[in-house]
Amino acid sequence: MTMKLKIVKDNNPIMRKKSLPVEMPLSNKDKETLDAMLDYLKRSQDEEYAKKHNIQAGVGMAAIQIGLLKRMFVIYYETENGIVQYQLVNPQILETSVKKCALEAGEGCLSVPNHHEGLVHRYYKIKMRAYDALTNEDIILSAQGYDAIVLQHEYDHLDGKFYYDRINPSRPQERLPGEEII
Ligand code: NI
Repeated sequence: MTMKLKIVKDNNPIMRKKSLPVEMPLSNKDKETLDAMLDYLKRSQDEEYAKKHNIQAGVGMAAIQIGLLKRMFVIYYETENGIVQYQLVNPQILETSVKKCALEAGEGCLSVPNHHEGLVHRYYKIKMRAYDALTNEDIILSAQGYDAIVLQHEYDHLDGKFYYDRINPSRPQERLPGEEII
């Protein structure tokens, strides 16, 4: 299966649109798209491949980033505890913590060629419900820290938001009270 994906950049107004719910049961076409997106992420993390094709490494990708206004995204990264990978369809955020967090180095995005410096304020913990097309199950994810940040970053794309919308422009490095910096 080969599907060539072209990443839509943040200067394209479609990126600001709200994506629409995905029709269930999931179509074969949508499943193929999710597989191609996951493949892209895996390949993007191969240094040699990324260099050769001049692409950025990514840990998440939302359908809108390849021009599809569908509420689905994929996640792929490796941790010391194993691989984290999902193909989430129609996700909903059920709960968020009062506590916030942010990545010390800021965030990045496949659709954002220019890095925007600053703390991207996120919820430290979230609970998310979604259909996972990798396991064909409805799941509830309880995530915190980095895992929660990645989920929120991708979820934001479904509502037309970028990570830099969450940076305070006048005080980009200022921590919120009680915020955990990761
Ligand atoms: Ni992104």
